[in-house]
Amino acid sequence: MAEEIGLFDAMYTQRALRYISPEPIPDALIRKVLDAGIRAPNGGNQQRWRFIVIKDEDTKRWIRERYQTTDRPAHAAPRTAAESRSAARNDAAANHLADHLHEVPVLILCCVQHDGSPSDINRGASIYPAVQNMLLAARGLGLASVLTTRPRRGFEQEIKAKLRIPDNVDTAALLPLGYIAPGHRYGPTTRRPVEEVTFDETWGRPWEAGR
Ligand SMILES: Cc1cc2nc3c(=O)[nH]c(=O)nc-3n(C[C@H](O)[C@H](O)[C@H](O)COP(=O)(O)O)c2cc1C
Repeated sequence: MAEEIGLFDAMYTQRALRYISPEPIPDALIRKVLDAGIRAPNGGNQQRWRFIVIKDEDTKRWIRERYQTTDRPAHAAPRTAAESRSAARNDAAANHLADHLHEVPVLILCCVQHDGSPSDINRGASIYPAVQNMLLAARGLGLASVLTTRPRRGFEQEIKAKLRIPDNVDTAALLPLGYIAPGHRYGPTTRRPVEEVTFDETWGRPWEAGR
C-alpha cells in the first residue's frame, strides 16, 4: 500500500527487496513508477530511455530460464561476521528471486537508445538515474523491487531478439515489481560510512565533516 515517506527515509531504506508477492498490481502503480523514472536527469535531455513492461507468463518463464543460469555480480569480500551474514542473506534472496522470477507480476526492462558509438559509462549515466528514481518510487509506493543486471550480463542478445529490441538499444536493468511478500519489509541499508569512501581535495586524504 502507498505510504507517504520522506525523501531521506526513502533513500536510507530503499534496499533490494527480492521477495515479491505474485499478486497482480494495478497499471496505475506501474505507470507511477515509470513516470518517476522519466523525471530523471539524462544527457542533453534527449530522454533516450525506453521501457518494456512484461507481464506475459511465457515471456517471464523464458527470462527466468536464462536468468537462473547467469551468475550474480560478485559482492564485496565480507570484513565482519555481520557483513558475512548479510552477504549470505543476499545470496539466498537472489536465488529466491531467480527461482520465482516468472511469478513476479511485472518485469520492467529498462533500456537506452544509442547512436552506435562505443558503449561507455556515459551511456549508462542516462538510464541508471531513471532506474534509481523507479526504485525510490517503488519504495514510496510500498512495492518491492531490485536493480538486476543479469539479462544484460548473461543473455542480452537473446533477450533483444526475443523482445524485438533494435540494435541501437542497450538493455540496462531488469526491475521486478510487485507487492512485498508477507514477512518481508524495507529496512535500513548497510553501507560503509561516508568517511571511508570520501577524500579531501586529493585522492587518499581522508575527508571529515567540519575539518
Ligand atoms: C549494477 C548493479 C547490478 C545488480 N545486479 C543484481 C542482480 O543481477 N541480481 C540481484 O538480485 N541484485 C542485483 N543488484 C542489487 C545489489 O545486489 C544490491 O543493490 C546490493 O547488494 C545492496 O543491497 P541492499 O540495497 O539490499 O543493501 C545489482 C545492483 C547494481 C547497482
